[in-house]
Amino acid sequence: MNKDLQLREKIKQKLVDVKQKLGKDGNRLAFHLTPAVGLLNDPNGLIYFKGKYHVFFQWNPFETKHTFKAWGHVSSQDFIGWEVHPPALVPSEWYEKDGCYSGSAVEYNGKLYLFYTGNVRTEDGGRETYQCLAITEDGICFEKKGPVIELPEGYTTHFRDPKVWQEGEKWYMVLGAQTKSFEGSVVLYSSSDLLHWQLEGPLAGPGITLDDPFGFMWECPDFFLLNEKDVLVCSPQGLESEPYKYQNLYQSGYFIGDWDRKTKKFSHSKFQELDYGFDFYAPQTFTDGKGRRILIAWMGMGDEMEQHHPTVRDGWLHALTVPRELSIKAEKLYQQPIDELKMLRTNYYSEAFTLTNEKIEIGLNSDLQEIIINIDQFEGKKFSLQLPDRWKLTYTREQGIISFERTRFDTHEKETRHCLIESIETIHILQDRSSVEIFLNNGEKVFTSRYYSNNTHHSCVIAVDGSVAMQWQNWDLGSFSFQHHE
Ligand code: FRU
Repeated sequence: MNKDLQLREKIKQKLVDVKQKLGKDGNRLAFHLTPAVGLLNDPNGLIYFKGKYHVFFQWNPFETKHTFKAWGHVSSQDFIGWEVHPPALVPSEWYEKDGCYSGSAVEYNGKLYLFYTGNVRTEDGGRETYQCLAITEDGICFEKKGPVIELPEGYTTHFRDPKVWQEGEKWYMVLGAQTKSFEGSVVLYSSSDLLHWQLEGPLAGPGITLDDPFGFMWECPDFFLLNEKDVLVCSPQGLESEPYKYQNLYQSGYFIGDWDRKTKKFSHSKFQELDYGFDFYAPQTFTDGKGRRILIAWMGMGDEMEQHHPTVRDGWLHALTVPRELSIKAEKLYQQPIDELKMLRTNYYSEAFTLTNEKIEIGLNSDLQEIIINIDQFEGKKFSLQLPDRWKLTYTREQGIISFERTRFDTHEKETRHCLIESIETIHILQDRSSVEIFLNNGEKVFTSRYYSNNTHHSCVIAVDGSVAMQWQNWDLGSFSFQHHE
């Protein structure tokens, strides 16, 4: 049996072994993509192809660690009902033997082209990196074409995560890179046939578009035009934490600006973070049949907390965020959960109230909730929203700080993430068993986090120091459905 088949058989067997246990633990998310077993990280190859949304992801079916990496694969017509396919890529060839790493997808002449990084560990502890291509016509079975780009001069082997797009007749690719002086940057290639690639040079980074170093490696770049602005999304590693900024081990954010298509020069404003919660990394975007720019990220972080997620005991780890539609207002990216998620709504409840120096508790039916709060007026010092034993959001008006608190998975102490915000008009919460995504002011600022709780009582406690007039709306939410294919 060839290596590809062998690996696929091993993965199938692993899925058979865990079948009895699947979905039985209380932390398993209902309307987020999670790995059936093992570890999931970056979303990959997001594309709308032949009437279906395809989502691929970094997947280690064998353990909840970053060792083996294949591409898991699901597809959907509406982001609610999902088909689970066999892995799209397993690391069977010499040029990818230590992982089919992250990448992207494009459609060309009715075929789907996947670009990904072949990761190779050498005997002396070093690394090789190859940018590889695989093609499919049916969207399910991929034919590997091998490496199309080798490491250029001037960069270390931390050179990966190809994101490809088309402009006119030309194809472009951005890659996450580390220069020989250990600085993070993004490199641009072009092609006219997707097979032969030409190095255009660095697109952004220190000495190119920034004066100072900005981390030691930029992972998972993405470059796109939205509302007449060019946006470079990337995940820089090695940024020093600052008050209200860069609080996680690694960051994800964007530069907004203008890309001169003739000179290939990109000029941009300063880096802005995409999310302020504990678990958000390696986002990728794509456009769909309706012309929307949709972002999905890894709802996780490869930090010291990773192996302390209680789901590790149940054999799985991490999830993807819900898909979010992007827009730009005043040089800022806004993220909003896509409309399709409204199909999950049932049991609507709404109430308008004014609270003055008091605390109220609103009962919730379950831990699958969508909550939308419109703040009509707020005078005073602070207010907080809390799902007791789960998480707490506090707005401190004078300093304009919003804080998100959860319980650490290891020491069980409280830990917090903060960001600055001028005012709060809306709070939109998606609550899924052990995850929460909070969109403030229609997606101007977002907090994405996992948390774990044994509390079976569901409610939201609102406490106000001052006076607040708000409209509360909530819905119980349903679950995704999955159909498994061999
Ligand atoms: C980001 C990342 C990518 C890499 C992949 C490997 O989380 O480190 O740079 O391609 O994960 O799983």
